[in-house]
Amino acid sequence: MLATSLSLLAFSFPVLAASSLSAQQVLANAALADILERGAPILGYDTGCSQSTPTCDWMRNYPDSTKLVHMNLPGTHDSATWNYTQATQDLFFEYTGTDIPPAEIFQCQDKSFFDMLNGGIRVFDLRFAYNPGNALLGFHHSQAVLSPTATVNDVWFGFYSWLEQHPTEAVLISLNYESATGTPRDLNLEQEIYDLLTSNIASQYWVQANGTLGTLGEARGKLTFLQRYDYEFLPASESKRFGIQLPPEAWTDNDPSIEIVYNIAEQQKAFIEDYYETNGLPIGAGAAENIQWKFNATIAHLENATTINPDQLYITFASSEHDEDVPPETPRIMALGNGTDTPGVNQKLLPWLQANKGKRFGIIMLDFFDAVPGLVEAVIGL
Ligand SMILES: *[C@@H]1O[C@H](CO)[C@@H](O)[C@H](O)[C@H]1NC(C)=O
Ligand SMILES: *[C@@H]1O[C@H](CO)[C@@H](O)[C@H](O)[C@H]1NC(C)=O
Ligand SMILES: *[C@@H]1O[C@H](CO)[C@@H](O)[C@H](O)[C@H]1NC(C)=O
Ligand SMILES: *[C@@H]1O[C@H](CO)[C@@H](O)[C@H](O)[C@H]1NC(C)=O
Ligand SMILES: *[C@@H]1O[C@H](CO)[C@@H](O)[C@H](O)[C@H]1NC(C)=O
Repeated sequence: MLATSLSLLAFSFPVLAASSLSAQQVLANAALADILERGAPILGYDTGCSQSTPTCDWMRNYPDSTKLVHMNLPGTHDSATWNYTQATQDLFFEYTGTDIPPAEIFQCQDKSFFDMLNGGIRVFDLRFAYNPGNALLGFHHSQAVLSPTATVNDVWFGFYSWLEQHPTEAVLISLNYESATGTPRDLNLEQEIYDLLTSNIASQYWVQANGTLGTLGEARGKLTFLQRYDYEFLPASESKRFGIQLPPEAWTDNDPSIEIVYNIAEQQKAFIEDYYETNGLPIGAGAAENIQWKFNATIAHLENATTINPDQLYITFASSEHDEDVPPETPRIMALGNGTDTPGVNQKLLPWLQANKGKRFGIIMLDFFDAVPGLVEAVIGL
């Protein structure tokens, strides 16, 4: 490993007295701490992982030769929304104004990135756009600005430093360009995201394979890229490609059954259920029916994941909403129900996963991933 990762390694052993570190390491540690502090509104703080927590380093129990497409990988949908409470929305009033739906429409998680990582989550759904000022890149969910100060760069460093401490783990990053944020899309924005993915340090921490998903052994200690946006302004000659491409024109909107060929020569495909808005139901149908509808779509896709195309990628979103219902079905209601009488998709999913333990589920993207105890373990099959 090169000097940069060595200095990250040093950071992971804070027990070393400062005096035993070289001046260069002290400086590197301070710089990383500064970056992580700026990234904290999205990353949160790493409160560590106790050895008894089975989700912390769960991938260490799987052999290197395991193909990623054969694994069951819990993910979080709209991961960066975890601190977007009404208090946070109110705090960012100067950027978003009053003409924005309430925070509960946007919030899909309530635990930080480090909590997700330590809690076993291995797939992140991130959406970037310019932060206020249109200079640096940050994270959004539609009109909601999730932190005006934390940048994509800060968050990449957060992942790199966590991976240094958990070298057996592999993390997948699905990256989308978020439209409808009110910020511009231009060449500079695309150049910035491209540079953040192809810098010297990024080349060490992102799996460089192009157009294919390999084995766990190849992905350990690294990020694997699922590219959900196109470069519209950046000249194609500059696009060194890696990861897999799941472009927006192929990822049809609100579709319970999407099929994308991401590698034509080798016929490698992704099968995706992303039926997020249960708008097939009449207004006023209520929580129970909306939840049942989404649960059906989720299970229909998971049935396929367990029975056909064993060597292809399956991504199933268990997350959803129905904003237009009266009253609205928020992501939280859909995932967790609207009270003890109406269970959500997550509660309904748990017994199904347990009954199908040992089968291949693929990637399952969750909202409020840890609210139902045992759900992440049931996805993994622990
Ligand atoms: C989460 O948001 C609140 C405001 O709603 C803020 O005070 C807090 O610092 C934020 N958390 C982090 C880790 O930035
Ligand atoms: C990446 O793979 C695609 C096809 O999947 C190919 O068109 C492209 O040339 C490859 N790029 C590089 C840099 O290898
Ligand atoms: C939850 O939804 C059900 C069915 O949609 C409805 O009958 C019930 O009144 C709702 N409960 C609450 C607490 O909103
Ligand atoms: C969901 O699936 C079950 C079992 O296949 C079926 O009985 C039910 O009608 C379906 N409900 C909805 C809302 O699609
Ligand atoms: C499941 O697979 C069958 C057979 O390929 C296909 O017809 C069906 O649309 C798939 N269901 C979903 C939800 O993708």
